[in-house]
Amino acid sequence: MNAGIITVSDKGYAGQRADESGAEIKRILSGSGHIVSEYVIVPDEEDIIYSQILRMSDELRLELVLTTGGTGFSKRDVTPEATLRAITRNAPGICEAIRQNSLAITRRAMLSRAVSGIRGETLIVNLPGSPKAVRESLEFALDSIEHGVQILKGVAVECARK
Ligand code: MTE
Repeated sequence: MNAGIITVSDKGYAGQRADESGAEIKRILSGSGHIVSEYVIVPDEEDIIYSQILRMSDELRLELVLTTGGTGFSKRDVTPEATLRAITRNAPGICEAIRQNSLAITRRAMLSRAVSGIRGETLIVNLPGSPKAVRESLEFALDSIEHGVQILKGVAVECARK
């Protein structure tokens, strides 16, 4: 897959915190043979997140956009709102499954408001903001995300069960 990463973090954007979560996504995707061709750090601002999702899907036509951060309950957490504005088709199962799997690790997983959906031929998935949460979420979901993207592109025509 040709993927983009959007790290959503006021502190990361201001250079006050190293972006370990974006780096973790890149490590996992690259380790599975995917290309990360775009990577940006943005503040927790809905319009900025929204326009980056549009740029990566409509202009760059990336197959997958992963966001990290801004899915919680703080007043600045608006990543799901930006994503819901951008998607044209809902695909809630990915984040539902991530939450369900993560609940076995930490009850705090119920506090992630992450959403997932499709815009054109791009799949967009929100991940929580810590490197640990990224690892626990993405390693669990990546195989199904890969398959979903293949179906979205028309490369795979049938849903292969696992
Ligand atoms: N999911 C997993 N797998 N592991 C975690 O440690 N942390 C939770 C949750 N999801 C966590 C997780 C916590 S503490 C919060 S507050 C929410 O994700 C939202 O995180 P965010 O605001 O950084 O996106």
